[in-house]
Amino acid sequence: MSSVIKVAEGKYPGYDITIERGILDSVGEKVRPLTKATRAAIITDSNVAPLYLKRVIDSFKSAGFEVLSFAFPAGEPNKTLETVNRIMECFLIGKLTRGDIAVALGGGVTGDLTGFASAIYLRGIDFVQIPTSFLSQVDSSVGGKTGCDLPFGKNLCGAFHNPIAVYIDSNTLDTLPDHYKADGLAESIKAGAIRLPKLFELFENGIEGSVDEVIRQSVQMKADIVERDFTEKGERTLLNFGHTLGHAIEKYENFCGLSHGEAVSVGMALITKASEKAGLTKKGTYDRLVDCLKKYGLPYTTNIPLDELALLCTSDKKSIGSSIKLVLISEIGNAFIKEIAWDKLLPFIKEGKC
Ligand SMILES: NC(=O)c1ccc[n+]([C@@H]2O[C@H](COP(=O)([O-])OP(=O)(O)OC[C@H]3O[C@@H](n4cnc5c(N)ncnc54)[C@H](O)[C@@H]3O)[C@@H](O)[C@H]2O)c1
Ligand SMILES: [Zn+2]
Repeated sequence: MSSVIKVAEGKYPGYDITIERGILDSVGEKVRPLTKATRAAIITDSNVAPLYLKRVIDSFKSAGFEVLSFAFPAGEPNKTLETVNRIMECFLIGKLTRGDIAVALGGGVTGDLTGFASAIYLRGIDFVQIPTSFLSQVDSSVGGKTGCDLPFGKNLCGAFHNPIAVYIDSNTLDTLPDHYKADGLAESIKAGAIRLPKLFELFENGIEGSVDEVIRQSVQMKADIVERDFTEKGERTLLNFGHTLGHAIEKYENFCGLSHGEAVSVGMALITKASEKAGLTKKGTYDRLVDCLKKYGLPYTTNIPLDELALLCTSDKKSIGSSIKLVLISEIGNAFIKEIAWDKLLPFIKEGKC
């Protein structure tokens, strides 16, 4: 079965997200009518290359593309400007022109790096996303955010650059190590908690056998929000539910402790506990959220002192002036933004005072 989600972003060109098992072998022919490119540069990482690169190369070759490929060493520590440079060197060596395309085959790191290199090489070439990790299939391949880390912090450098198409083959999840599944699970449970009560219920009942449906609903939700607020001036902020405290946890642990999804999971629980105490969230929502997180082995508490976390939150990208925009839920499926003064943050997360 195949589902297609259309993303139309006003002044930005729209694109389709196709979810179909086994689509990896026909991505080339699907891309062919979308571009006049003669060359396709397939960028992947050292873990994904031995698993899926050949199939994707063969598919693009049989669709008539001249294909070149490059695999960078896998992992977040390689999400650097240096790797972006190496990807652009590959484009240059392969003589990619403005009319040619890049293809990101891999997780969120591959998508962000390839998208960014495509955004800046020759002032921008088209690119295609073939996400292979759960996180990239439910979240990062949609929305046009691309970039890399700087020595000063994560995702500090980047550009908005939409793909011309996204192809999701959930069969690739069979080889994804369990450890990385947690990140996608947390972001998808977040999608349910902020906007999709039915998706949240699906998680509560168990997603066995419904992975494609989970991907479809998560992607549709993100696409709808991003369509209305591409550059994150308003509604897109809601996607940051759990992220303010989550980012603070990641920073406190120097990015060597909980993974991003696990930290977001704790962030969602902590902020909902506080907002329920403050009377801003329907009673019982925290318990429901935590039960769901527990069901998927996701963490919901931390030993890090809350005052340390509050301090780190004020250096979050989303803090403005002397206040911070917190994303809260009034109940499962309904998120809203509450702006709170920096000095009120600690009493809020500690005792629900606001
Ligand atoms: N652009 C956005 O909107 C956005 C949103 C969320 C996260 N992100 C970014 O995404 C990144 C995290 O994404 P990620 O978790 O996919 O990281 P990742 O790309 O590092 O992938 C995780 C690991 O899984 C491996 N892998 C990927 N697919 C596989 C498969 N099918 N089989 C076996 N191994 C596979 C990778 O080699 C890697 O070791 C972060 O850098 C984050 O900043 C971006
Ligand atoms: Zn996230």
